[in-house]
Amino acid sequence: MHIKKLFIVLAIVCFSASLSFANGTQEGGEELPILGAGIYSATDNFNSFIGKAIVKASNGVFDTNIDDGQFDQANQNNQIDTMLAKGASCIAISLVDITAAGNVIQKCKDAGDIPIIFFNKEVTDQELLASYGKCYQVTSTGGTYGADIQGQLVAEYWMAHPEADKNSDGKMQIINLMGDPGHTASMPRSNGVKDAITSAGIELDILEEDTGMWDTAKAKEKMDAWISKFGNEIEFIICANDAMALGSLASIEAAGFNISGTDSEKYIPVIGIDALPEMLSKIESGEVMGSVLQDATTQGTTIVKMASNLVAGKDVLDGMSVELEAGAKAVRVPYTGITKENISTAEECYGN
Ligand code: GAL
Ligand code: CA
Repeated sequence: MHIKKLFIVLAIVCFSASLSFANGTQEGGEELPILGAGIYSATDNFNSFIGKAIVKASNGVFDTNIDDGQFDQANQNNQIDTMLAKGASCIAISLVDITAAGNVIQKCKDAGDIPIIFFNKEVTDQELLASYGKCYQVTSTGGTYGADIQGQLVAEYWMAHPEADKNSDGKMQIINLMGDPGHTASMPRSNGVKDAITSAGIELDILEEDTGMWDTAKAKEKMDAWISKFGNEIEFIICANDAMALGSLASIEAAGFNISGTDSEKYIPVIGIDALPEMLSKIESGEVMGSVLQDATTQGTTIVKMASNLVAGKDVLDGMSVELEAGAKAVRVPYTGITKENISTAEECYGN
């Protein structure tokens, strides 16, 4: 009787053990390595698109899912601890706070020299990056982070539309919405777009310049005050990302601007950076003038290829036709200017 019971228990244990072995395995029965991945906040649409691209590219390569850091570095540190405790073979992360990079690198070293790829939130401490051989970055082109292209689009529009100088004073009255001041790209974008416009020979008159923290709601709140203060005196709204451009658009549309695109009675050109899908429909309708594509899909696939090379002990760029920028240890994905004319370039990036 007892022996029979024991046999049944053993049989159940063996059966469930074989079931759990089947979890996270490849078709051939081999287990996939874990890629511990996370973004700084799921409220950031652009970061969420990189996350989706990572998951898609990981199919059949890594067992992965994207943790939401919820804008809290302590929370993200716990998530990284959990990834490593679960046996992650590589970490890919957009940090909440780039000054936490040293601490996160240490965690990876302590867990047995686990490789790490930082993305989006670029780490600028080159000494720190150099201190760990298994640490790399994937971001977009540095310098102005796409803002030179943005400035050229603004300048081209201005030259082609003399009526855009509403008060005919020869200057462009602008609102400049900047990103999170703690972010590597914020100041370079803000300065870069202004430099590109002035080097095209256009004089700027900055009505307001402030941070919208990359965020739609925050940008809308600021723009609500500015549109009621300046109204049609505003000749261009320049935003360091699309989320803020969409917040600005919601605000000015509530005040009667841009509703029918360029046919609107009252119109203010708006431009962003990222070329998110939700922005493309606004460019198509003419409610927004343009954006600059930051290629989330290529960034995601690049991260996964590098991660799988590192896990296989190969050269980080094995089989890839990209270069590593020394110092930053970064693969940089280029930007592309987007207006209604070439909108399909951005649509293709998102597989539409
Ligand atoms: C930028 C991007 C922004 C925001 C930011 C957050 O590269 O353009 O939309 O995602 O990163 O780190
Ligand atoms: Ca003017």
